[in-house]
Amino acid sequence: MRRRALLGAGAAALGVAGLGWSLLTPKRPGKLLHSRAELPKPFEARLTIPPVHTGDEIVQREADLRILPGLTTRAWTYDGSFPGPTVITRSGRAAALTHRNRLPEPVVVHLHGGHTPADSDGYPIDEIMPERGTATTTTHHDMAAMSGDMTVGSRTYRYPMAQRAATLWYHDHRMGFTGPAVYRGLAGFHLVRDDEEDALPLPRGERELPLMLTDRAFEADGSFRYPAGDPVFMNGVLGDVVLVNGLPWPVHEVDPARYRLRLLNASNARRYRLELDPPPPGGAAFAQIGSDGGLLRQPIGHDSLQIAPAERFDVVVDFGRYKPGTRVRLVDRDGGNVMRFDVTGSRRDDDSAVPPVLSRTAEPLPPPARTRTFAFNQGPDGAWRINDLEYRPGRAVARPRLGEVEHWRFVSDFHHPVHLHLNHFQVVSRNAGGLGAYDHGWKDTVDLRASEAVEVAVRFTDYTGTFMLHCHNLEHEDMAMMADFVVEA
Ligand code: C2O
Ligand code: CU
Ligand code: CU
Repeated sequence: MRRRALLGAGAAALGVAGLGWSLLTPKRPGKLLHSRAELPKPFEARLTIPPVHTGDEIVQREADLRILPGLTTRAWTYDGSFPGPTVITRSGRAAALTHRNRLPEPVVVHLHGGHTPADSDGYPIDEIMPERGTATTTTHHDMAAMSGDMTVGSRTYRYPMAQRAATLWYHDHRMGFTGPAVYRGLAGFHLVRDDEEDALPLPRGERELPLMLTDRAFEADGSFRYPAGDPVFMNGVLGDVVLVNGLPWPVHEVDPARYRLRLLNASNARRYRLELDPPPPGGAAFAQIGSDGGLLRQPIGHDSLQIAPAERFDVVVDFGRYKPGTRVRLVDRDGGNVMRFDVTGSRRDDDSAVPPVLSRTAEPLPPPARTRTFAFNQGPDGAWRINDLEYRPGRAVARPRLGEVEHWRFVSDFHHPVHLHLNHFQVVSRNAGGLGAYDHGWKDTVDLRASEAVEVAVRFTDYTGTFMLHCHNLEHEDMAMMADFVVEA
């Protein structure tokens, strides 16, 4: 009973056990939620780039955003914007960020891809209670938080930044409520820069675009539509509008030149198969230069990018391969429009390049001290589980030793984007074969499809303590597909 009560808003509805859960499990993750608001035509909104964060504090507060024409959307935001302000830090330079909670409910902040000590990692019950003590929902979840490291009003997260340049992101991570909190707007970019990357001639300035992809559905009044507590959505919530940097199917004018796109799939459950339409002459539309954990050794050309929730693809697109005047749609082959780039005739100047060697720090890890297997599956009552266990704070499923390399094998019965906190990993095999096209480089999230097995190599470094292993389909995560692991000295 207590464990059941600890599960999230969605899982509360699971009290009605015994339904034919398999009937609710389709072949693909997620169920489409239709908007009740009138939706705009695609490519009317102009792409915006999230503001860059300055100072050392972020205030979490509600804000009325203009997302759909003529309507406002009440969102949960970092500093009033969605996506939140882009935090930029420097490799090797410690940073501290204070989050102040002026939202009506508790929050937890996690830096996804951060190599962060446990007490600043956003453990799901280390809640920041609302500043004014006006929580509208005082539930058993808050009682659970009593056993976590709770603060009231604000919390300062410390990030040593002992890690290489990469596209990270920060988002809410409250136990049982991550799905609705992120859906309402609690997500932002955090870019780490370093000398190695700065020395490369990659596109920069206005030709470096962080692009956060999220799908949403809207109520008639413009508010976000999210089906809290409806078990029909336990496979994940899909919206019928794709937002890029918080705007529906936007358009962006580009020069006929190279652009660096830092693509982040911050959607709760949607996977995308991204392509350019029309494709550029000669193919290889995307030159992938980086993954979740920063630069690849060498660029990889892709015609299509499969990006699961929480994954990042750092790519260069050369719009100079198109005739000026071309309108290039970024589409999801599985869904529809994402955004459009209009190639304008001006400014052909381009001294950027994609060097044939990007980084020498992606060496393979030595052989593992041990191998562990984690099965991601669904229990008889419908809850999502790891090795047959629903999430319970304080129960470790693995105790790796600091400094050791381990191989972790993830097997699954369904689509699960598997994410590890603390350290980036390298995929060593997929389905006992070689790597998939999107498995290269340092990653922190790996896309696992039904009946697949993926083995990754990870070295646990620098920090002991409790960290998370979980599915990053946020509805799966909220419905208990999460586990603690403890790094021991
Ligand atoms: Cu992006 Cu534990 O999450
Ligand atoms: Cu994470
Ligand atoms: Cu999952």
